[in-house]
Amino acid sequence: MSRRLLVALILVALLGVLIWSSGSELAKLDYAKLPGRATWQLPDRVIASLGLKPGDRVADIGAGDGYFLFPLAEAVGPAGRVYAVEVDEHLVRDLEKQAQLKDLPNVEVIHGELDDPRLPDEGVDLVFLCNTYHHIEGRVEYFANLRVDLSPGGRIAIIDMRDDLAGIARLFAHRDHWTPRKTLHDEMNLAGYHHLRSFEYLPVQIFETFSPQN
Ligand SMILES: C[S@@+](CC[C@H](N)C(=O)[O-])C[C@H]1O[C@@H](n2cnc3c(N)ncnc32)[C@H](O)[C@@H]1O
Repeated sequence: MSRRLLVALILVALLGVLIWSSGSELAKLDYAKLPGRATWQLPDRVIASLGLKPGDRVADIGAGDGYFLFPLAEAVGPAGRVYAVEVDEHLVRDLEKQAQLKDLPNVEVIHGELDDPRLPDEGVDLVFLCNTYHHIEGRVEYFANLRVDLSPGGRIAIIDMRDDLAGIARLFAHRDHWTPRKTLHDEMNLAGYHHLRSFEYLPVQIFETFSPQN
């Protein structure tokens, strides 16, 4: 083996070790912004699983750069409404611009508070969160308060990174950005919800739905 090849192999191995350890700088890569997210996020299948109807009102809490927001807006159609809730002012402005550019009057961007999404009472048929649940502090209180925003029959769908990933998939769960399924169920139960369904097809995330207990 040539000296150059050996050095290259050592460098690649070192890089691998760096990436592997989830506390490393490289592990802080924003995987969600890398090309190819659709290959593991399966957005079309997720949207289909939500069972939305034209005219439904949906809240995308922690809408980020709008990855799910715009497919959600398409699913509920012009008679529906999608509330894009963000706490980051820069993202709020960007989402407003995107909604305008895409000519989507059914999208309303809400600058939420950390502890309050500022949704209309009984105004939402589905609350959706993708990769946002673990960011929220005081989750039991947050979701207990959210009950008043759900319409009768309203649901919550939560997608978050799995905590039990192994091998290269661990890259997806960097910086404690995940939620164990049991934690999610326990907290939602304490907040006054019962579990409706688990969707098992996402390779690196849990996908769970809940509705308010009576
Ligand atoms: C990892 S990003 C997910 C973005 C998007 N849902 C996606 O899947 O691409 C999490 C987002 O949640 C937002 N966020 C964090 N805490 C929040 C809160 N309490 N209410 C609303 N948004 C929040 C952050 O500003 C960030 O944009």
